[in-house]
Amino acid sequence: MDTAKKILIVEDDPAVVITLTAALEAEGYTVAEAHSAEQAMERLDGEDFPVVLTDIYMERKTGLDVLHRARALNPSCSVILMTGKGSLETVIESTRGGAFEYLSKPFSVERLLETVRGALRAALAPEPEPAPADDTIRGPMIGNSPAMIEVYKFISRLAPTEATVLLCGETGTGKELVAKLIHQNGPRARARLVVIDCAALKDTLVETELFGAVRGAYTGADRDRSGLLEVAAGGTVFLDEIGEIDTPIQLRLLRFLEEKEIRPVGSTASRKVDVRVIAASNKELGALVGKGLFREDLWYRLNVASLEIPPLRRRREDIPRLVEHFLREFTKAYGRPVRLENGALRLLLEHAWPGNVRQLRHVLEKLVILTPGGVVDAGAVGAALDAYVLAGAASAAPSSKSLTDLSALEEEHIRKVLEATAGNKSRAAAILGIERKTLYRKLERMEAARK
Ligand SMILES: Nc1ncnc2c1ncn2[C@@H]1O[C@H](COP(=O)(O)OP(=O)(O)OP(=O)(O)O)[C@@H](O)[C@H]1O
Ligand SMILES: [Mg+2]
Repeated sequence: MDTAKKILIVEDDPAVVITLTAALEAEGYTVAEAHSAEQAMERLDGEDFPVVLTDIYMERKTGLDVLHRARALNPSCSVILMTGKGSLETVIESTRGGAFEYLSKPFSVERLLETVRGALRAALAPEPEPAPADDTIRGPMIGNSPAMIEVYKFISRLAPTEATVLLCGETGTGKELVAKLIHQNGPRARARLVVIDCAALKDTLVETELFGAVRGAYTGADRDRSGLLEVAAGGTVFLDEIGEIDTPIQLRLLRFLEEKEIRPVGSTASRKVDVRVIAASNKELGALVGKGLFREDLWYRLNVASLEIPPLRRRREDIPRLVEHFLREFTKAYGRPVRLENGALRLLLEHAWPGNVRQLRHVLEKLVILTPGGVVDAGAVGAALDAYVLAGAASAAPSSKSLTDLSALEEEHIRKVLEATAGNKSRAAAILGIERKTLYRKLERMEAARK
């Protein structure tokens, strides 16, 4: 018997059961029958069915109950609901419940068979990869300059190994993106990538954050705590901005890298953790070593497999592709088609890009949002490239406004960006090129002024 072609039919009308069974068996399906929702749920508890075909209205419990049970027991089960009296509510509930299809009676045998074939294919298809949680890092890396080809070679060589990796490069060059790609293309891809921002770990609790602590290690430690290095066990940790870490912690990190062991704060015992380490820095670690701010031994330990991601101004030939990529992303996100005039592209090509790819991305987002009429000319690019917020807002604004209106212009600009981001303040702050804190402060001031 081909168990992969099993179908459970749930239907309280015996005549319909006979018709459906005949049609499906003729196509080689193995059919099981249930004559009530209760009976169906019992069958499902004891046996796996890739496809369930159920009537909605039966006595007491309904086909929607069957749907929920079937999907709870086996999330890849395809459930087809049938009814002669559908309503908006039942359609909505079946969609929410993950129904594969909703067939309204009467339907033809062809329609039934076609639906069942699709349902079976969906049930047996491999699980889709979970979407990455981070919404700013997605898609492939763009660029085919010789420098980027070297980056791709590095990723492909290092991903399958367990080697500790150090990524260097100016801000916004793609260090975190490379770290993710190394993780995702390696044997630990199914496990976690834990991102630790060392710059944000600057207080006394760093050690606990990283290594964990046992109960009673410090006041308020009422239970054992796992550190981030342990949380990442089986996966990878990304130690971002490693140059920001204080020297005492650097020593503990060095021990960790050498032994792959952690000793929680307050504990005398060490334990092994199996994590791969990728570190990144936008500061020259060698220079920090020279100034005594970074341990030389830790630098050596990290520097085994290292990559310097070149700044965008050294690979300008990648700019047109990046521009095209980000334009596509943002015209889709904001639903406004935008076209660049030649002069506009030329300005983008010539810019120095101190903030590298991240800055280019933000500038394009800004252009998509703020360009009326959808045609970006050199003037608009110039304005977007000007110092953020104040200068940018002033020169981009209609010339009828005088410069004495600067704060009004800023407010207007902030409001526009907030509108375009549907009130998302983190996103708005990123586009404006200011810290979220700063945006909050400005909004508070605007609010206060209005009162
Ligand atoms: N080659 C590329 N193709 C497509 N997107 C890129 C590329 N390089 C960087 N990005 C995008 O630019 C943004 C900044 O990249 P990322 O966060 O990796 O930079 P970073 O080097 O870690 O910067 P920082 O030092 O400031 O943390 C992200 O949105 C990233 O997806
Ligand atoms: Mg980064």
